[in-house]
Amino acid sequence: MINKNIASLKQSSTLLINEKVKELRVKGEMISHFGFGQSPFPIHRSIVGALKEHAHNNHYLPVAGLEVLREQIAFFLGRFQNIKSQKESIFIGPGSKELLYQSILIFEGVFLIPKGSWVSYIPQIQSKGGKYHIIDTDFKNDFKITAQDLEVFFENKNAKKQYILILNSPNNPTGAVYSAEEYKTLAIACRKYNLIVFSDEIYSQINFSAPFSASISCCYPEKTIVFGGLSKVFSAGGYRLGFMRLPRAFEMYQNAYKALFSETFSCVSSPVQFAALKAYEYEQDLQKHVSDSSFILKSISEYIYKEFSDIAIECTKSQGAFYMAIGFNEFKTQISKLGIHTNVDLATYVLENYKVAMLPGVDFGFEKEALFFRIAFVDFDGQEVMKSYQEAKEIDLDFIKRYTPNIFEGVEKIKKFITDISC
Ligand SMILES: Cc1ncc(COP(=O)(O)O)c(C=O)c1O
Repeated sequence: MINKNIASLKQSSTLLINEKVKELRVKGEMISHFGFGQSPFPIHRSIVGALKEHAHNNHYLPVAGLEVLREQIAFFLGRFQNIKSQKESIFIGPGSKELLYQSILIFEGVFLIPKGSWVSYIPQIQSKGGKYHIIDTDFKNDFKITAQDLEVFFENKNAKKQYILILNSPNNPTGAVYSAEEYKTLAIACRKYNLIVFSDEIYSQINFSAPFSASISCCYPEKTIVFGGLSKVFSAGGYRLGFMRLPRAFEMYQNAYKALFSETFSCVSSPVQFAALKAYEYEQDLQKHVSDSSFILKSISEYIYKEFSDIAIECTKSQGAFYMAIGFNEFKTQISKLGIHTNVDLATYVLENYKVAMLPGVDFGFEKEALFFRIAFVDFDGQEVMKSYQEAKEIDLDFIKRYTPNIFEGVEKIKKFITDISC
């Protein structure tokens, strides 16, 4: 017998779809892969250089992370994310996913997940047998949670209990980004209900109109834990390094984290911590690399948004990260004639018949009948696209067709699906 909380888990759907697409591609099928969200860009050479330089380092490092790295991240957060920090409050772990998981383990309480949230929060909560509620959000607000949504939730609830709200901006699956103003009003409700906030800011600098994204920790500093890492902004998912920043008021929990780290992963790989040190120095050339990547993603997102919204496919307005939630709810009648009533069945139908992979909304907290999907627009050769963009200095339709052909074809195939069901 195994732990029943674990027995009910399935493998993460993002990883599963990736395996399925690989399998189909090996069989010779031309699949447009909107399913997997990995940064397509190369790691900046300065980070790779630092990794090589420290490859000989075989020491275990302190459980909370290399001191100079904690200091560098504190500085980075102050300067490039507007979050004043001290090194003692920074903790390094093997990916922000692990740090989120350990935080979920450490804190008692009921978790609040906005509808339209990253796939792993709920399974992580389930694996500890924890309780959670999905808070309803609205397409019209790009599925961002508002103070009003929280008020509706807390009507007739025992507000004395401990609740933990998980926020993520720029958001996976919608690409939505909360503004500083939105956070200000949200913070009032968070304070009213004494919420702890886990603010997942792993995509912060992949922002389409600013060098970084607003953080709720600026207006709700007392109870917000910020999460970040190398995976997205620095295109180094496989390096497995994340960090979290505890608020000052949570000093008393530092030992709990250190104890749990020391009994689980011990410390993050030493050479990787030195590579991260280079990343968080965030030199100008690296900043440009990140802003060029963001511009490329912005251009692709605008292209997809236009193509789809022109034919009444609902699209969230991506302002960061590399995702967009799209919806086929306007076509429910036509789709039900195919015998399809859920987003899971529609994702399967589109993959089998149109060779386009996208993730069903149910994985992100949507009701199974809501025909929303996440598309990740990163199925291209980031190195080639980056080089071509730096030469061309602009991205138009010809560029998209030429350098991101899988995106272009995927969009065309989805348009064809709409034409077919509309006949
Ligand atoms: C919203 C969000 N949070 C956290 C993570 C985990 O990132 P890491 O590689 O740091 O564990 C991801 C990765 O897909 C993500 O999309």
